Amino acid sequence: MAKKKYEPPVPADMMPQHIAIIMDGNGRWAKKRGMPRTYGHVQGARNFRKLLRYAREIGVKYISFYAFSTENWKRPDDEVHALMNLMRKYLKEAYDYFDDRVRVVLLGDREDFEADLRQQFTDIEKDTGEFEKMTAGIAANYGSRHEITGAARQLAQLVKEGKLEPEDITEELLSDHLYTKGMPDVDLMIRPGGEQRLSNFLLWQCAYAEFYFCDTLWPDFDSKELDKAIVEFARRTRRFGGL
Ligand code: IPE
Ligand code: IPE
Ligand code: MG
Repeated sequence: MAKKKYEPPVPADMMPQHIAIIMDGNGRWAKKRGMPRTYGHVQGARNFRKLLRYAREIGVKYISFYAFSTENWKRPDDEVHALMNLMRKYLKEAYDYFDDRVRVVLLGDREDFEADLRQQFTDIEKDTGEFEKMTAGIAANYGSRHEITGAARQLAQLVKEGKLEPEDITEELLSDHLYTKGMPDVDLMIRPGGEQRLSNFLLWQCAYAEFYFCDTLWPDFDSKELDKAIVEFARRTRRFGGL
C-alpha cells in the first residue's frame, strides 16, 4: 500500500515529544551556489516553514528552532539586518499558523530587538497562546548561558525580597524561570550543517537529549531527513542513569 503523505515515521508512542533543531549551514549552502549568504537565509527560512508544517502533521507536540543566537550579533551588520527582516516577514506570515493551531513562543531575550519586532513577538505569543496542537519555540537572541543567568537573577531577586528561601530553589523552580517554561525537556536535538556542537542552545533542557548530527545543510534538510532522525531516535535506548 502506498505510504500516506503524512504518516509518522515511527509509532506515535515512540515519537520524541520535544524536538530541537539548530538550523545551521545556510551560508555554506549559498556559497556553494555562488550566491550571497543572505540568499541562504531566505532558503533556510522557507525550509523552516515547511518543516514546521510537516512536524505538526506527523504529531510532534513541541519543536524548537534555533534562528538567531546571542552570539550571532557579531556578524556583519548587513547579515544581521537581513536576518531581522526575515524574522519580521515570517512572524507576519505566521498568522496562517493560526488555522493550524500552533502556539508560538519566543525563546530569547526580546529586549535587544527593535521595538516593532519586539511587538510582533509579543503579539504572536498572545494571539496563539491558547493553541494546543503543537508548541513551536522560536529561539531568537537566544543563548543558554544568558537564559540560565537570567533565571538565577530572578530567583536571587525573590530571595532578596524575602519571597523565597534559598532551600526552596529546586530544579523545577529554575526550569520555570527559563524561556522554555511549561515545555518538556528536549528528547531529540538535531544539528544539520556538519558541525557537532550545541553553540549555546538549550544546555539545561538537553541534559538527557539524544543527539543527531548530519552533514546536510539546513536549506536541504527536508521531511525525509527529519524522518531519518526520528527513526534513529526511536532505535536508541534511553536509560536516564538507570539500567
Ligand atoms: C545558520 O546558518 C543561520 C544562522 C546562524 C542565523 P549559518 O549562517 O551559520 O550558515 P553557515 O554555518 O555559515 O553555513
Ligand atoms: C548556531 O549556528 C546558531 C543558529 C543556527 C541560529 P552558528 O553558525 O552561529 O554556530 P557556530 O558559530 O558554528 O558555533
Ligand atoms: Mg553556522
